[in-house]
Amino acid sequence: MTETDWENAAPASLAMFGIDRRSAMAGGLAALSFALLGCEVSAAKPPRRMAARDWIERQGELARALKGGQVSALQWMAEAERLAEEIDVAELMAELDRAQVVQQALPTTNDPRKSAIRFLDADGAPRKLGYGAALFAFAPHNVITPHGHRHMVSSHLVVEGAFRVRNFDRLGDEDGAMIVRPTRDYIARTGQLSAMTPERDNIHWFVPQGGPAMTFDVIISGIDPGEADYEIEAIDPLGGTMRPDGAIRAAKIDFEAASDKYTAAV
Ligand SMILES: [Fe+2]
Repeated sequence: MTETDWENAAPASLAMFGIDRRSAMAGGLAALSFALLGCEVSAAKPPRRMAARDWIERQGELARALKGGQVSALQWMAEAERLAEEIDVAELMAELDRAQVVQQALPTTNDPRKSAIRFLDADGAPRKLGYGAALFAFAPHNVITPHGHRHMVSSHLVVEGAFRVRNFDRLGDEDGAMIVRPTRDYIARTGQLSAMTPERDNIHWFVPQGGPAMTFDVIISGIDPGEADYEIEAIDPLGGTMRPDGAIRAAKIDFEAASDKYTAAV
């Protein structure tokens, strides 16, 4: 697979989910989510900006709706993308300043440093939101290498800098490999969101552009009852085999090997 193979990959829109933005806002998804989330604002005039605390709470309501089966993973994804347009990143970061931030040890791979976020209520007690929140701080050379997921969804809001984001759909699995298809290749700047679900953009790959960069992540695992909480596997799409239909057979590799190959220069 070469750089030119990415020419067909482009940022997705609501239309790619089979959702028309106007009809989504006029009824359908917006009405569903607004009803679910208890929003009293007219769907025709969504608020331009939401208070950070409300936005954090809204993510939890959406996560619980997903786990409860009231919204599908694709509906969750569309709503997460819509919510990203309603948050002021500076306000969110100010709210994070009031949260408990637990910085994890530097990974042994070239991955960014993760900090777990625990939001606190007015009494200083941790809020039970139904999702995991984390910050991923990338030095310019750090990379989240291409990998796929099971039994979870996640969204990644750029809160500092910019990233080249590449996504693939996961079409299936074979012995030691995933069958994937490139779906998106774009620069996500501060304020933009990248999300993944089992059905859409399940594989993601983040490379910071032009300096340090950071994402705020919402991670919802355990969405498949009776299954493992989550499963994450690295793959090697650049070393994969292109099929006539444009799909790629990409070998599953360990994260150390992925980190060696998928540097920030790739
Ligand atoms: Fe991931």
